[in-house]
Amino acid sequence: MKKQIAVLSGDGIGPEVTAQSVDLLKKIAEKFNHDFIFRTGLIGAIAIEKEGSPLPDETLKLCKRSDAVLFGSIGDPKYDNDPKAKIRPEQGLLALRKGLGLYANIRPIYTFSETLSKSPLKPELIDGVDFVVVRELTGGIYFGEKGRQENRAFDTCVYSKGEIIRVAKIAFELAAKRKRKLTVVDKANVLETSRLWRETLQEMLKDYPDIEVNFMYVDNAAMQIIKFPKNFDVILTENCFGDILTDEASVISGSLGMLPSASIGDSTSLFEPIHGSYPQAAGKNIANPIGSMLSAAMLLDLSFGLKEESKTIINSVKKVLADGFGTEDLVSQNPLSTSDFAKKIIDAV
Ligand code: IPM
Ligand code: MN
Repeated sequence: MKKQIAVLSGDGIGPEVTAQSVDLLKKIAEKFNHDFIFRTGLIGAIAIEKEGSPLPDETLKLCKRSDAVLFGSIGDPKYDNDPKAKIRPEQGLLALRKGLGLYANIRPIYTFSETLSKSPLKPELIDGVDFVVVRELTGGIYFGEKGRQENRAFDTCVYSKGEIIRVAKIAFELAAKRKRKLTVVDKANVLETSRLWRETLQEMLKDYPDIEVNFMYVDNAAMQIIKFPKNFDVILTENCFGDILTDEASVISGSLGMLPSASIGDSTSLFEPIHGSYPQAAGKNIANPIGSMLSAAMLLDLSFGLKEESKTIINSVKKVLADGFGTEDLVSQNPLSTSDFAKKIIDAV
């Protein structure tokens, strides 16, 4: 199979973890006889520095003509501490999501038996957790009208029915392939947009009679995810709630560095670890590459239909974890560097 992959490694630890995934994909190509062509593009703080824009036109064009996008991370403390900055790295990722029409973000949450003790939650509570959050990604308060006057500022949360229906379809279809349980998370007791979500979902569920749908307020969901994480199968929610709940849910897996995600929509899909740019670790070769490497596995499965290749990566990660290896977030004794740990995984392939 011949495919072009756009590689946008971005800021912070993005470049060092993404480099491991590129090596991993090269190994997969060699083993399974594929031809993957990698093309790099600038995005984020590095793109602002070099091109004056967090998403240069060439980068968006590159992504559009590629078969999949492998993304690293975005953000720089320079901007975090400057709320007045007009151009921000994060705008690059938001513009890319919008530009590619990536309206659904799929974030699986699961545990590895080898790293259960790394979670602050009790092992018996989290052993066997396996759910997926479907987060709406191109609407809501992230993209609504915003503004600032002297001592007043506003952000608007807007959703249309069409935006809700298209992402809900993805969640229903995913639930149909899993345990057929869909939890819709909103704040319908307070927010008008949430009431539109609930109304729309109540209309849609008639078309999916074999899926058990329940509605949950986001504050309650934040608690239930920690107290009873095994009760969930598919969670569907709007953009901002999904952002917050998935960071929260990542503690179940023990390290934010472990989890991948896929963003899908109108054209090319994008795959990225759910962790951020982790600037404190940037350039130190200590970050956990698993989130990125499992994103590469999702890319092979969802964008190219290469199930066996994808499974090979997941099994290799499991094997290396079972052998007791890990980066410093995973093991306290003799942690490996990002590249040495990644090499173990690649060798296992
Ligand atoms: C994420 C990130 C982004 C988001 C930031 C970097 C804009 O936190 O992908 O979850 O808030 O969506
Ligand atoms: Mn986030």
